[in-house]
Amino acid sequence: MGMEKYFVHTTSYVDEGAKIGQGTKIWHFSHILSGALVGSNCTLGQNVCISGDVIIGNNVKIQNNVSVYDGVCIEDDVFLGPSCVLTNVTNPRAEISRKNLYEKTLIKRGSTIGANATIVCGVTIGRYAFVAAGAVVTGDVPDYTMVQGVPARQTGWISRHGHKLEKKDSNKFYICPESGLKYREIAEKRLICVDIEENQSLSKNMKTGKMDYKYYKKLKKV
Ligand SMILES: CC(C)(COP(=O)(O)OP(=O)(O)OC[C@H]1O[C@@H](n2cnc3c(N)ncnc32)[C@H](O)[C@@H]1OP(=O)(O)O)[C@@H](O)C(=O)NCCC(=O)NCCS
Repeated sequence: MGMEKYFVHTTSYVDEGAKIGQGTKIWHFSHILSGALVGSNCTLGQNVCISGDVIIGNNVKIQNNVSVYDGVCIEDDVFLGPSCVLTNVTNPRAEISRKNLYEKTLIKRGSTIGANATIVCGVTIGRYAFVAAGAVVTGDVPDYTMVQGVPARQTGWISRHGHKLEKKDSNKFYICPESGLKYREIAEKRLICVDIEENQSLSKNMKTGKMDYKYYKKLKKV
């Protein structure tokens, strides 16, 4: 397991052959199976299970009661809300073995899966996309897209800082009320940030929340 420094609570198991990055914390009653790759500075809450054929990037936050099954790949800065559900077979049957047929799910950089949401396998969740609490995702979700409901449908665009982008200014930019970053729709179902490239990290001062969600929601209405 190398010389990396990470924390594992005494009630959890990290199997031989799992790789965990520096600064990662694994809290109570969790299990990381052999072969799993978990990046640095991640937090895995209570009762988290990571299967062996799973790759998890850096700074990923996994809340309590989440199982990440074989075939799931999670990029940097992803947030998995409490008790969200990932899957790897669309048509599971106990009688039929489909161990070599796991369907791939890709959860891209900076996206959020809300509490208790379910991701039906074989989909890609785009960068900085946001799956609302309790949604059931059955198809791909583009970058910066907010989806809600069962089945999950797009209800708008959302900024990298997690605010709905509702009104365009006179230059056709959406502006995030928290960060001031500008966004532009460059095609149908395609939003980009004009100021910071999607794969670029935010500066340190842009990484700390300042006011709560309701404050910015009110601000948008002014
Ligand atoms: C989606 C979310 C970001 C709120 O977005 P919002 O647009 O500000 O929500 P609002 O409260 O203005 O609601 C807008 C509408 O969507 C509905 N709505 C809100 N959240 C919803 C959800 N998760 N699923 C379905 N509908 C939802 C509201 O009832 C409202 O409907 P209405 O217009 O018919 O009254 C939030 O509800 C959510 O799901 N956050 C995730 C929280 C979470 O899982 N955190 C995990 C870490 S603790």
